[in-house]
Amino acid sequence: MQLNNEIAAVVTGGSSGLGAATARKLASHGVKVTLFDVNEEAGNALAQEIGAQFVKVDVTSDDSVKAGLDAAEAAHGPTRILVNCAGIAPVAKTTSRGEPHPMDMFQTVINVNLVGTFRCTSFAATRMANLDPLTEDGERGVVISTASVAAFDGQIGQAAYAASKGGIAALTLPVARDLSKSGIRVMTIAPGIFETPMLRGLSQEVQDSLGQQVPFPSVWVVVMNTHSWLKQSAPTQC
Ligand SMILES: NC(=O)c1ccc[n+]([C@@H]2O[C@H](COP(=O)([O-])OP(=O)(O)OC[C@H]3O[C@@H](n4cnc5c(N)ncnc54)[C@H](O)[C@@H]3O)[C@@H](O)[C@H]2O)c1
Repeated sequence: MQLNNEIAAVVTGGSSGLGAATARKLASHGVKVTLFDVNEEAGNALAQEIGAQFVKVDVTSDDSVKAGLDAAEAAHGPTRILVNCAGIAPVAKTTSRGEPHPMDMFQTVINVNLVGTFRCTSFAATRMANLDPLTEDGERGVVISTASVAAFDGQIGQAAYAASKGGIAALTLPVARDLSKSGIRVMTIAPGIFETPMLRGLSQEVQDSLGQQVPFPSVWVVVMNTHSWLKQSAPTQC
């Protein structure tokens, strides 16, 4: 899909980190971007800076996601690109100090990361499927979700997070097959570690431990308060 000012995109988790960097890059190509996030302050600031729209959306709520998609369409026309970045990463062991893993935490992580990703995908794809194709081969839209290296190589304390990201990885192929007849491409990225507010929210011990899992160089070198990681490839297609 050509990235230009005739294309509208929604980026969930767009107030921070990978989502914010993605929104910046899309906006730099003229794409009309709507940020979905629960962090209003950061979302509004970024939206103002890059000429995007911010809508407070909680990806765990049907009503909130529907209202967000309505607002995106009202401001920018039909959404052709959905980038799922919203996520949380609390750390807890399966059992610790004689106590089991907090089950409410496990369920919340699954609800935000996995169910939230699928909700946004399903709701957005339902609208995309009714749009006119953009190309002769029938392309209508694209959905990009964010799993993690933890989907395949989860570390101590990441049972909930790894389960949620493994779920995103696993649903990618069936969703891509479901949506192929509608001309909607579906893909998932599985990043290694990036120094974003999510990572900085973990204890130093956990940060150091995760950094040491990287084979070479075994420190984390990418700083996400810039969008340097996206500058490398500078895609004009999505
Ligand atoms: N940082 C890393 O090293 C890393 C590695 C692999 C995968 N990821 C994944 O990349 C994505 C982005 O992570 P990040 O590092 O940029 O984190 P981040 O904390 O900087 O950004 C995540 C954003 O999601 C938002 N969010 C959380 N719950 C939400 C909800 N219910 N509804 C809407 N928005 C919500 C947060 O407010 C935040 O702005 C996540 O899915 C994360 O799991 C990150």
